[in-house]
Amino acid sequence: MIDGLPTLDDVDYDGKSVLLRLDINAPIVNSTILDTTRFESHVPTLKDLEGSRVVILAHQSRPGKKDFTTLEIHAKVLSELLGKEVVYLDEIFSSRVIEKIRSMDVGDVILLENVRFYSEEQLKRSAEEHATSHMVKKLKDHFDLYVNDAFSACHRAHASLVGFPPVLPSVVGRLVEKEVAALSKALKSEGRKVFILGGAKIEDAVKVMKNVLTKGIAEKVVLTGVVANYFLMLSGKDIGEVNRKVVEENKEGIDDKEMLELYNKFKDKIVLPIDVGVEVDGVRKDIPLEKFDGKAKIMDIGIETISMLSEEIPKFDIAVINGPAGVFEDERFTLGTFEILKAVAKAKYSVVGGGHISTAARMTGIDKKMDHVSVAGGACIRFLSGEKLIALEVIKEYWEKKWSKVVGKKS
Ligand code: 3PG
Ligand code: MG
Repeated sequence: MIDGLPTLDDVDYDGKSVLLRLDINAPIVNSTILDTTRFESHVPTLKDLEGSRVVILAHQSRPGKKDFTTLEIHAKVLSELLGKEVVYLDEIFSSRVIEKIRSMDVGDVILLENVRFYSEEQLKRSAEEHATSHMVKKLKDHFDLYVNDAFSACHRAHASLVGFPPVLPSVVGRLVEKEVAALSKALKSEGRKVFILGGAKIEDAVKVMKNVLTKGIAEKVVLTGVVANYFLMLSGKDIGEVNRKVVEENKEGIDDKEMLELYNKFKDKIVLPIDVGVEVDGVRKDIPLEKFDGKAKIMDIGIETISMLSEEIPKFDIAVINGPAGVFEDERFTLGTFEILKAVAKAKYSVVGGGHISTAARMTGIDKKMDHVSVAGGACIRFLSGEKLIALEVIKEYWEKKWSKVVGKKS
């Protein structure tokens, strides 16, 4: 058990039929999967289930998007990683699928079609309503166990994520266990904590900031990226027309009055950049804020800010980073993001959120020096914001009221 969540350690799975929800949603261009990190993150669970019959449910992208496609190439990536064939079936719960499931041997792995091809998957419904969907009704009787390892999708109340726990004994997989342990440690363990929040999506950073400041979790919150520019504006700094525009474009869901109150209340805990990296005539220039006239576009935190943070961040017991400090995709402006990552890695316990910042960490290899690199974007933000992840809550709820009583626990 972890935080009230049953894991593979709480059930017998050898020789059993397991329905396994993974998140292998990946960037795809021209039928090529560009990043296999999420596939790799599920290997520990798949290895543990080597003595079971495993049928995988997963999604790719969303209806209407360019990379909304079948899971055929995903099966190939999984096969390579596991060193055995993962059979791809281009349907989800047809009679052909049921027939294949019934004839599986121990050790077989099947990947079913993209669950988002199925029209009931994304309906706004409760877990109990999703449990009555055709997909759940057709599949449930052919399995002993449902395992959710799709941490990065656990904030979605979709049929494949919440519909099975009410009707099938359900636990979480090894990746979920690892993510929950690391992110809980970042929020709950003893010690001095710093949160470094950047990126473009101001709402994401603010949600985490609100949680860690109002609950007294963070000693300091360092702001970088567009979110820093927004708070510089709030603090009375004129960052100029071009930069104001970028802030406005990324401010969805933000209430200025509330943010100003938050800023004033926690001013002494919020660290803002003291200089900025801008582009002037095609080259990087670092300008102290008091001399910045707001004419150039801010592309990174400045060199003085970087050196101040490089000295301070390693002194913390726990450092959590989410969102890049600047436009690191442009090699002239990688400095802030890469140097701050190095500083984070030097803290006693270091955690990197999913999304762009974990891409940056992998680009430099610094990811290997971190204690935890999350594979999740939205789910990680929600976790750090103190919100519950619906798919995990459903597993907890039904374990407590139903499955813990009927499933024989391992001794
Ligand atoms: C993700 O990539 O964020 C998860 O796979 C969830 O996908 P979604 O944001 O399309 O629901
Ligand atoms: Mg998402």
